[in-house]
Amino acid sequence: MAKDINVAIVGTKFMGRAHSNAYVDVSHFFDLPLHPVMRAACGRDAAGLQSFAARFGWQSTETSWEKLVTRDDIQLVDICTPNQTHMPIAVAAARAGKHVMCEKPMARNADEARRMLDAAQEAGVRHMVAFNYRRVPAILLAHELIDQGKLGDIMHFNAVYYQDWLVDPSAGATWRMDAQEAGSGAHGDLNAHVVDLARFLAGEVAAVSGMQDTFVKERPRGDGKGMVPVTVDDATSFLARFQNGASGYFFSSRMCTGRKNYLRLEVFGTKGSVAFNLERMNELEFYSREDLDAEQGFRNILVTNASQPFISAWWPPGHIIGWEHTFIHEVRDFLTAIAAHEPVHADFYDGLRCQQVLDAAVTSASTGRWVDIPLT
Ligand SMILES: NC(=O)c1ccc[n+]([C@@H]2O[C@H](COP(=O)([O-])OP(=O)(O)OC[C@H]3O[C@@H](n4cnc5c(N)ncnc54)[C@H](O)[C@@H]3O)[C@@H](O)[C@H]2O)c1
Repeated sequence: MAKDINVAIVGTKFMGRAHSNAYVDVSHFFDLPLHPVMRAACGRDAAGLQSFAARFGWQSTETSWEKLVTRDDIQLVDICTPNQTHMPIAVAAARAGKHVMCEKPMARNADEARRMLDAAQEAGVRHMVAFNYRRVPAILLAHELIDQGKLGDIMHFNAVYYQDWLVDPSAGATWRMDAQEAGSGAHGDLNAHVVDLARFLAGEVAAVSGMQDTFVKERPRGDGKGMVPVTVDDATSFLARFQNGASGYFFSSRMCTGRKNYLRLEVFGTKGSVAFNLERMNELEFYSREDLDAEQGFRNILVTNASQPFISAWWPPGHIIGWEHTFIHEVRDFLTAIAAHEPVHADFYDGLRCQQVLDAAVTSASTGRWVDIPLT
């Protein structure tokens, strides 16, 4: 019989909905030691908050996260708010003894991420950064193949993350285009995911050389009254050297006309290769030099077999899963780790390391030099 754990969420929009759906569904599909009770939802807009809470089944509401994180009836705080709020909410929640799930990027910079890691470690709570692409079954299969040595030594990790929702210069300004609120633009939003996947699949990044662009310098205010300057990047790319000697490139942009959520990565090893595209998230391309010469070629694996990661909880082979399932998998693993008193990946250390790589790319872009990223 699963024990209850009382959960609170902060943020009620895009990620608030994705995470809420995960708490609703997770016990329906997975046998877990802990059952999430959706105890409280927090947002700033009281009317929107009520309808959000009613729709997903959150039992109570708060309009102050400061109050929420000190409530005695909460054991886990899930942060789905803009980036500048991550550090203060996570630190306060950890100090109040709550387990913390935090959306990515973990923070606006490595200094903030470090404070979050320190607070969570001092409090002895479980912590996780919501890098949900680690829990795409095809990515986990790629991880298994690499772990089993089927790619040999990794020589390259190359990734692009293309979106196009800011190509239109009349697209309105939001917190995502404000450096004070977001920390960065495409870099923290998209490269954060890719850097995390690079660390997960290919190892630690040792040094980077980057460049950044902002093509649209100002955008209409949300209320239609005038324009506001854009203070973040539209695109950031960088070359990377890995600690294991591999090299690679990263390119993220919100200005790639026609591309919606195109995260394409390729890992090339001495014995084989894998390739993945998030817009075809049930598929993994795999090439093995150990195949018979006459049969060599990329095979396209439909990752929907019961033996493949997470799939046995879902549908029969060929019955594909979707983007929202990655959040359910993440919640499943976080609850399991809390019950077992064990760490979970990606944790706040992973979030900090990711942030250090992102910060180094920004420094490199402004100085025009390679920047080393020592292990700390
Ligand atoms: N894992 C992913 O794939 C993914 C995708 C999108 C966004 N994100 C991340 O999730 C986070 C949230 O992004 P989003 O797209 O959901 O943003 P959003 O703008 O859709 O929603 C933000 C929510 O936070 C609330 N909020 C803002 N400040 C608050 C405060 N002080 N107190 C309480 N509530 C507050 C807003 O009212 C809103 O409900 C960001 O860090 C973002 O980078 C992750």
